[in-house]
Amino acid sequence: MKKAIITSALPYANGEIHLGHVASTYLPADITTRFLKLNGVEAYYICASDDYGTPILIQSEKEKKSPEEYVKFWNKRDLDDFRAFGIGFDLFYKTSSIENITFVQEVFKKLMVNGHIYEKEIIQFYCKTDKKFLPDRYVIGRCPYCKAEDQYSDLCEKCSRIPQEIEDPKCAICKNPPIKEKTNHYFFKLTNFVNELNKWLDSNSRLQKDVKKYVQNWIKDGLVDWDITRDITWGVPIPLEEAKGKVFYGWFDNHLAYISSAIKLLSEKNIDGKQFWNSADIYHFIGKDIVYHHYLFLPAMRIGINNEYKLPDYIPTRGHLMLQSKKISKSRNWYIGLKDFLSNFPADYLRFYLTLITPYSQDDLNFDWDEFSARINSELIGNIGNFVNRALGFTNKSLSGIVPKVTEFDSHDNEAQKKILDFKGELTVLMEKNELDKALKKILEFSAYFNQYFQKKEPWKSANGSNNCIFISVNAVSSLSIALFPFLPSSSECMWSQLNMDGKITDKNWCAISEIAIKSGHKIGEPSPLFKKVEPEVIQKLKSKLGK
Ligand code: MF3
Ligand code: ZN
Repeated sequence: MKKAIITSALPYANGEIHLGHVASTYLPADITTRFLKLNGVEAYYICASDDYGTPILIQSEKEKKSPEEYVKFWNKRDLDDFRAFGIGFDLFYKTSSIENITFVQEVFKKLMVNGHIYEKEIIQFYCKTDKKFLPDRYVIGRCPYCKAEDQYSDLCEKCSRIPQEIEDPKCAICKNPPIKEKTNHYFFKLTNFVNELNKWLDSNSRLQKDVKKYVQNWIKDGLVDWDITRDITWGVPIPLEEAKGKVFYGWFDNHLAYISSAIKLLSEKNIDGKQFWNSADIYHFIGKDIVYHHYLFLPAMRIGINNEYKLPDYIPTRGHLMLQSKKISKSRNWYIGLKDFLSNFPADYLRFYLTLITPYSQDDLNFDWDEFSARINSELIGNIGNFVNRALGFTNKSLSGIVPKVTEFDSHDNEAQKKILDFKGELTVLMEKNELDKALKKILEFSAYFNQYFQKKEPWKSANGSNNCIFISVNAVSSLSIALFPFLPSSSECMWSQLNMDGKITDKNWCAISEIAIKSGHKIGEPSPLFKKVEPEVIQKLKSKLGK
């Protein structure tokens, strides 16, 4: 049996999941996992909350909570929201788990033994009032490039550059100017891996070409070693006597939770995790902002421990979601929370629309309320919903729900039957290439074709051959329900039960898309409309909430 492990970028346990997160990462990974499982692959979808880092520590302090309490809250809230969106993780764990902490410390020791870690004295900001070293977000000041005030020392939000040294620095907690102090930090020798990384990039043809180009250019421009130490209290402790009080930088430990969480899940199933990992296809779904970490840092660390866990086969990378053509910004309230969205519309509406607008590339995409409503009303409802309801409704009303006997097929029937028989082949190619938007469009074409077929055959006139039309159309609904399962799981299950099929859709195989599975004499269930129209008033209301 083929095996796969699928992950999506771990969300920081630091605020609610919004549409920007799900479009590029969680939804494509979920669709892929559902497809692989239906297609007979033993696949597991792993995720976790990303619990460490300075921003989380600062926020928890502001809210007068312990960081443990704080991340626990967001871990649960995130999982609840993901579930409501139909994201079917096999495990949603956390980077602060005991399994991950242990694993991270082991990896560090192995990297050390292999000569990939060195110690160096550096100069860091230190606050005498708070008696703290001040990394990253603990220091605010003026950006040395664009002169914007009140920027973090690790990122200027105005010009997106990473300041070498922030001007007029202040402690983010007490606003006093910090002093400079010496401290010992550990560095990961990324520069040791140039040859191996190049070899891997050259030989793996399953990585996206355009992303690969990018990364190869970074390597050409020269890599720099990574400072993997932070002098703060919240993080995985560095397992050395002389490093007491120091923890790992979040990007050292977080991606290792892909592995440690997978091992945990597999061991609960009595599966040897390492063996499984190394015989599986490994997928890491990400947004384009973390390409550097996933194409360089992550593989280098795996190579650095002697490839004990194999490198990724796929790193599907997608662009950022814009909202009404503007950049998403939480502080300006220019974003849509997932929970809020789902209190207005079914999850499948969002899954449908986001899939259609999200290409398999680094291009940015745009959420537009009017386009959302138009595409749901005309494509999801006007095309798919309409066909399913027509075919099943007619069977129910005119034939008491019994799928009729066929007579000799005419050329339309033959062509329609062939559409079903060929459907799987055409769709599978796109699914395997991760062209999920194109695959969904293919399904829409299939449904549009059957709408026309139904219209042409006019079964309501009960002429000779109308039974053939019903027979084939009901089978097309069955094909559609399986094909749609990865994309719109709950609507697809609804169709399945309206067809009155035995067992669950997940017991079926992807191949059943192209089977004429429903025989004459089968009695279908009770049809009812699958979807409700999106009303303009609701869209108006939601639009006006943005930016307020
Ligand atoms: N939390 C990070 C972010 O949102 C992503 C971590 S992905 C991991 O940018 F692989 F590194 F864990
Ligand atoms: Zn201070």
